[in-house]
Amino acid sequence: MTFIDRSSLLSFRILFYNFTRFSKFSCYRAVKFHMDIKHEVKSNMEIVNVPPIISTYRQALRTFDDKFKNELSTNLGKLKSMMDKLKAEDLGFDQTLGSPDRWRKPDKAPCTYIEVFQNSRINMSIFVLKPGFKMPLHDHPHMHGLLKVIAGAVRIRSFTEYPLKEAVNELDFAARAKHEAARLAQGFHKRRRLFAKVSQNKICAANASTCILTPTISNYHEIEALEMPAAFFDILSPPYDTLIKDIGPRRCRYYDVVNEVSSNVVELQETEVPKCFYCDQAPYLGPILS
Ligand SMILES: [Fe+2]
Repeated sequence: MTFIDRSSLLSFRILFYNFTRFSKFSCYRAVKFHMDIKHEVKSNMEIVNVPPIISTYRQALRTFDDKFKNELSTNLGKLKSMMDKLKAEDLGFDQTLGSPDRWRKPDKAPCTYIEVFQNSRINMSIFVLKPGFKMPLHDHPHMHGLLKVIAGAVRIRSFTEYPLKEAVNELDFAARAKHEAARLAQGFHKRRRLFAKVSQNKICAANASTCILTPTISNYHEIEALEMPAAFFDILSPPYDTLIKDIGPRRCRYYDVVNEVSSNVVELQETEVPKCFYCDQAPYLGPILS
């Protein structure tokens, strides 16, 4: 073999080696590009297929996160429209709880509580009420709440303290909290007595929109199941039993209407937890929230 032949052979080998490497690289790039597209498609699919309760949960976390408190009203509106679309099946609701037979058992509690999620900022839960049972009139101290009926129908009667004493800004809340703490520290007149205006009195079925309560508006309500078992999904923030600064744990207080002042103004008197109101529990069977 001449020098020229050897050189030609070497050149061919170098060319072939580089061609092979380039081909492999091209192939790798093509596969990677294809994978990127597939991955991107999958991500988009995941966004499209997020179960409604998971997007609702994520929106609830954002709505009641102090970092976004300047956007509270916009986020509350978004959360409400997400809840408006929620159905019993989105929450994995056990349809046997909606069967009247289940509630005829003599030892059955009049209310079943299903905890969906709880942390220090939000509580998400489902309440199922026996036919004809009324969840007694109660309050939600310094809390926001959203309530969506998912099965049966309920009558909701809500009240707003009248005249409205609490303004929405934090300074007024702080002043109110100090006043409340001082009142309790005196050790007398521990039970509240107040005037309240009926802010809502309507029947809500599963196709009804979400009811909202705020620290000042419609903060007191009673909820009565009609002739069938009824279930509603609730988001509360902050949850009961979290601390209210300068007051203590956030307790749920119950009230009796002691005086009908006019057609839509009543006088409420705080009372003990009604003995008729107790719940058993059932597990949450919907998508895992994360
Ligand atoms: Fe409530």
